[in-house]
Amino acid sequence: MKKIIAFNWKMNPVSKKEAGDLIKECSSGAIVAPPFVYFGLLKNKKIKFASQDVFWEESGAYTGEVSPKMLKDLGVEYAIIGHSERRQHLGETDEMINRKIRASLFVGLKVILCVGETLVIRKKGKKAVETFIKKQLSADLKNISSFKLQALSLIVAYEPIWAIGTGVACDPEDARKTIEFIGEFLVSNFGIKKPVVLYGGSVNSQNIKSFVQFNEIGGALVGGASLKKEEVKKILKLLK
Ligand code: PGA
Repeated sequence: MKKIIAFNWKMNPVSKKEAGDLIKECSSGAIVAPPFVYFGLLKNKKIKFASQDVFWEESGAYTGEVSPKMLKDLGVEYAIIGHSERRQHLGETDEMINRKIRASLFVGLKVILCVGETLVIRKKGKKAVETFIKKQLSADLKNISSFKLQALSLIVAYEPIWAIGTGVACDPEDARKTIEFIGEFLVSNFGIKKPVVLYGGSVNSQNIKSFVQFNEIGGALVGGASLKKEEVKKILKLLK
């Protein structure tokens, strides 16, 4: 299976000129998640776009929010939902995430759902990590039919929080095991036939192969390295 590579720009870069330069490096097949303000400027038929977040209502008095319908209308294909930076620092709860996922699937926006444990949980061991992730997935995907999740190709990204932006990636074999666990959980609890689970957390051109070499790992969600043109070039070349 072809590996999925998604670039999460987070709140970067700070000018439309830099955004335009960066997008030129992202060849066909990559999913790029720029800040909302750049969507209209970065039109590129070869690239699939993702939002970094989305709201659950279609329209109305919700200052500052952007709806799934608006994104669909702009040609955005995916929405990243439940990123740990939003969960940890912006008060995003599993209930909010569940509403966002439902609203996205309702209009046909594909979802990249992020899950992953803190260092404190990690230190408690494998069982604690699995219990935590099971809890996240169960709450985030609560009452959503397997038909919907499947039809709209739900993607899950396993992003251990302690590995995000730290330069300390998860050990690839550990990531493989956790991702295998997530895949099995999605099959047994949500009836998803072929789950797609990515790894994210300090992925770069040096280590990406060590993750995507495994059948269980469907690709990578890349943050920091996706802002460096040379890294982007190398990563995409490696995954061709
Ligand atoms: P990172 O971010 O690659 O900078 O660790 C990954 C992410 O937050 O999706």
